[in-house]
Amino acid sequence: MSQVEESTGYDPGGFMDPAVSADPQPFYRQARATGAVVPGTFGPQIVRRAAVDFALHHPEDFSSGMGSVDLGQSVPLIPLQVDPPDHRNYRRLLDPIFAPRQMNVLKPEITRLVNERIDGFIDRGECDFAEELAVPLPSSVFLGLVGLPLSELELFLSMKDGILRPTGVDMDEVQANQKVAARQIEEYFAQAIKDRQKQKGNHDDMLTLFLNAEIEGQRLTVDEIVGICFLFILAGLDTVTDSLECFVAYLAQHPDQRQRIVDDPSIIPSAVEELLRWETPVTAVPRLAMKDMDLGGCPIKKGDNIGVSIGAANTDEEALPDAGIVDLTRNPNKHLAFGGGIHRCLGSHLARMELRITLKEWHQRIPGYSLAPGAELSYMPGLRQIEKLHLVFDAPGPGRG
Ligand code: HEM
Repeated sequence: MSQVEESTGYDPGGFMDPAVSADPQPFYRQARATGAVVPGTFGPQIVRRAAVDFALHHPEDFSSGMGSVDLGQSVPLIPLQVDPPDHRNYRRLLDPIFAPRQMNVLKPEITRLVNERIDGFIDRGECDFAEELAVPLPSSVFLGLVGLPLSELELFLSMKDGILRPTGVDMDEVQANQKVAARQIEEYFAQAIKDRQKQKGNHDDMLTLFLNAEIEGQRLTVDEIVGICFLFILAGLDTVTDSLECFVAYLAQHPDQRQRIVDDPSIIPSAVEELLRWETPVTAVPRLAMKDMDLGGCPIKKGDNIGVSIGAANTDEEALPDAGIVDLTRNPNKHLAFGGGIHRCLGSHLARMELRITLKEWHQRIPGYSLAPGAELSYMPGLRQIEKLHLVFDAPGPGRG
């Protein structure tokens, strides 16, 4: 690993620092100036675009298998914790289910859910965007997709928080609580699968698809379906929540950029890509080094827990001209916010749809908004969730909104 250079000002603790998470781009610049691989709190961090691309495209050297993420789960997270060649079988099964054509069917329902949320606060002229829209929306979409009742939203949100944000007085208690949450999620899905097996009639939801699916002539086992659903909770909910929060916080503080979206909503698809790049709400992905190697002139040891910083890669000036400028019409925009290589995000089409629809409906109904006076934004590190996002705007007059 490269030595930390005094001159760059790089601080290895930055990746875990909430203050850095609020404004990560200057920190990423310092990290890249220090080396392709820099030290971090829990292990080496890969920060330059070329090295990040290499790591994402060489799963045999940088594995995302069982050793890379331990949240107390007893089943592998499918397909993330499956290495080649088995990984390909799962993606062949799952890719068509998450293809753009399938996801487009959800458009009217997602539009309805977004507007239902906005209806809940628009007359007040203020809201906590996080609690009232960004947190419940992806879980509501997910419940519908998998075929579970919307009445389970609260239970679902508590299970998600239990696994992603476990609490405790010390690390032992945190891990024990996380294990309890993992068990609860596994039991919840195992029961939902059993219930679905018993039900008669035609369902066209995802649980049913999984129950009928085959890989090389073999039906999926209950454990495999649980492993797939478990990963959806980890990968498909907070990621969308955090993206919505980061986007809207950015736009609330950059009125000129916001006005571009209001004036011309047709730029929303490219604006979503640029905000994904600039904000990179999922800042890094974990990998386990499978052998001793050298990356960008920096040694890596077999068994190292590696952070692959897609946030730093997305703003690397060496790889992308004007990477430090936010251009909402940037095209092409080859960002890595959805990862890269074989584990590239399975849910990117769904995520894009949720993000585009929310920006469209929101700006149509609430074109002018800002942070509430005195609001201080607190970003978590890793997954850049914003705890509270208090916004104020003009409430619509009678007959409008
Ligand atoms: C804006 C929202 C999202 C972002 C930024 C995001 C980001 C990512 C990233 C960076 C990866 C790569 C992980 C790695 O290489 O270790 C990934 C993988 C994955 N994502 Fe997403 N994701 C989002 C939404 C979703 C949604 C909505 C779903 C689906 C329900 C989903 C399901 C998955 C799955 C299953 C994988 C693992 C794929 C594999 O291992 O082959 N994601 N995502």
